Amino acid sequence: MASATPKQVGANEKIVIGLIGCGGMGASNMRSLMGHPEVEIAALCDVDTRRIPGDYKTVEDKYNRKPEIYRDYRKMLERKDIDAVIIGTPDHWHALNLIDACDAGKDSYCEKPLSHNLVESVKMAEAARRTKRVVQCGTWQRSTREFTDAIAYVRSGKLGKIVHCRAWIADGTRIGKKQPSAVPSSFDYDMWIGPAKMVPYQDNKVHWNWRWVMNTGGGLTTDWGVHMMDIALLGMSADQNLVMPTQVSAFGGNWAISDDDRDAPDTTEAILRFEDPDFVMTWSVLRDHPGKPGHCTEFVSADGRTVRVWRGGWMILDADGKEIPKEQADPVPTDHWRNWLDCVKTRQKPRADVSSVAQTTIVCHLVNCALYSGETVRWDNRRQDLIGNAGRDTLAYQRPYRGPWRLP
Ligand SMILES: NC(=O)c1ccc[n+]([C@@H]2O[C@H](COP(=O)([O-])OP(=O)(O)OC[C@H]3O[C@@H](n4cnc5c(N)ncnc54)[C@H](O)[C@@H]3O)[C@@H](O)[C@H]2O)c1
Repeated sequence: MASATPKQVGANEKIVIGLIGCGGMGASNMRSLMGHPEVEIAALCDVDTRRIPGDYKTVEDKYNRKPEIYRDYRKMLERKDIDAVIIGTPDHWHALNLIDACDAGKDSYCEKPLSHNLVESVKMAEAARRTKRVVQCGTWQRSTREFTDAIAYVRSGKLGKIVHCRAWIADGTRIGKKQPSAVPSSFDYDMWIGPAKMVPYQDNKVHWNWRWVMNTGGGLTTDWGVHMMDIALLGMSADQNLVMPTQVSAFGGNWAISDDDRDAPDTTEAILRFEDPDFVMTWSVLRDHPGKPGHCTEFVSADGRTVRVWRGGWMILDADGKEIPKEQADPVPTDHWRNWLDCVKTRQKPRADVSSVAQTTIVCHLVNCALYSGETVRWDNRRQDLIGNAGRDTLAYQRPYRGPWRLP
């Protein structure tokens, strides 16, 4: 798309927003944003018209005005009155949606994980930088009290020297087994597949379930790794510019769930080596973790104390596993959507800035590069690329785009 001159939203002006992808999270983000008085939702875009009616009614009732409906997001981006977009499409569409939005002069609230593969993450962060766009990513844990408090405590040095981080997700979702079938008339399946590989339509591999299929998602390592490893990386960094691993190894496969169309690994154990400071992180995709939260991040200090944080709480444990008193360090953060709207007006970096979430998403992709190549992959943070060939020949590193789609 040709670059457009971005419109600057004034301090007291409305922020006019369009939604790309009216599924579960796109609609949820839209509803969160509609709670803020300066937001006006003007347009909805989806390639499946079955997904629009509920959102249409919500928007019409709130603004007493019919939102414009689009099937092709590029048409929506041509509108001069739209300041910003919510990107709630599946992961395989984020790169094109976001880069096109940047080039059209729109700010974005883009869902996590930032991308389907590593090269896309690098290009997306570059596009936002080049066009000076404000891009908040959907890693909303960065704006909730338990995570900000735990991160502040770890960063304060009170836990001492940290030598080990652990992050995990326990999940055993199945998508069942189905035969290909006719595409519903409401659904533009060719546009839904977009830059991914064309495969016969199966209704258990599209809405929501695409995340269990590596052609369109990255499995739990990107879906949840981008939340839980993000917290470890933030805790181990002074700010949003994250410490990055130098080497990553991973093992796993589809060993727990059989007789199912899902091809994303149900089992993964990854080891990530960091050098400045020296520590290791493990990332686990498990079936269950009895006695521990189903998703979690832990920081372990040299003297054996642990900070454990999950959605709903955080705790400090001594070396014997006994809980010790904690403190609330930070003021309650503004909500994640409020933070984006404020930054759209002030042009500051939001709390989950695209350049930072690109780093976390790259870490997730490095795990999948290592898993699928069976090799230890090495990361050159200065060059923003792998060192050598290990991991390069994987879908997690880069995908061939199905024409006519092309990664700019
Ligand atoms: N932040 C969070 O906690 C969180 C939670 C759930 C999902 N997500 C993320 O939100 C995104 C969407 O996930 P979901 O569960 O809502 O998926 P979903 O399948 O329910 O919704 C995606 C929607 O996008 C539409 N779509 C696909 N391609 C499109 C295109 N080119 N143009 C317009 N619309 C298109 C689909 O038809 C569908 O309605 C994913 O990136 C996911 O990882 C984030």
